[in-house]
Amino acid sequence: MRSEMEQDILKVLITEEALQKRIGELGEALYEKFQGRRPLFLGVLKGSFVFMADLVRSCPLKSDVEFIAVSSYENATVSSGRVKINHDLQQDISGRDLIIVEDILDSGNTLAFLKDYFLTKGAASITLVTLLDKPSRRTKAIAADFAGFQVPDEFVVGYGLDYCQEYRNIPYIGILKPEVYGTP
Ligand code: IMP
Ligand code: MG
Repeated sequence: MRSEMEQDILKVLITEEALQKRIGELGEALYEKFQGRRPLFLGVLKGSFVFMADLVRSCPLKSDVEFIAVSSYENATVSSGRVKINHDLQQDISGRDLIIVEDILDSGNTLAFLKDYFLTKGAASITLVTLLDKPSRRTKAIAADFAGFQVPDEFVVGYGLDYCQEYRNIPYIGILKPEVYGTP
């Protein structure tokens, strides 16, 4: 039986099993890269919270966890281009090796802004990890160091990603029915 929430999903794009397998590979790759160091996993809220939880558990390194909350979408499916910090860092990141954890790299606005922001705060290095990459929509010259999956130019939800704050708790990545958000 599909839940009422899931009836808004047009199709499943990435299953729970595929997510777990790929996140295991990302965790291993990060382990290889950071062995012997103590990186700081820095999740970009809210969308990354589910991915972050699985990623840190797939990477058996001594590490720290931090979050920053930003928004740019203002409840639409198209980026406003502006990035606002809603909840700032709660610790000094100067001299730290950062692993930025994002749900999706779309226009690149958010990560371009955050990369500059973290460098001005004195980060020693920045590694960008995104679960999803939508390269067709990029307007900023920014690329992930590690990306889980490339996705087509469709609005996706689930596994932390929302539409108007809904659907974050769907355990897979799905494409939302266009009638749910109106004509794009
Ligand atoms: P960017 O700044 O355009 O790269 O967008 C990044 C942010 O936009 C992500 O962290 C998401 O929160 C949101 N976003 C972009 N595309 C989607 C989508 O297809 N579904 C849900 N959120 C999205
Ligand atoms: Mg979002």
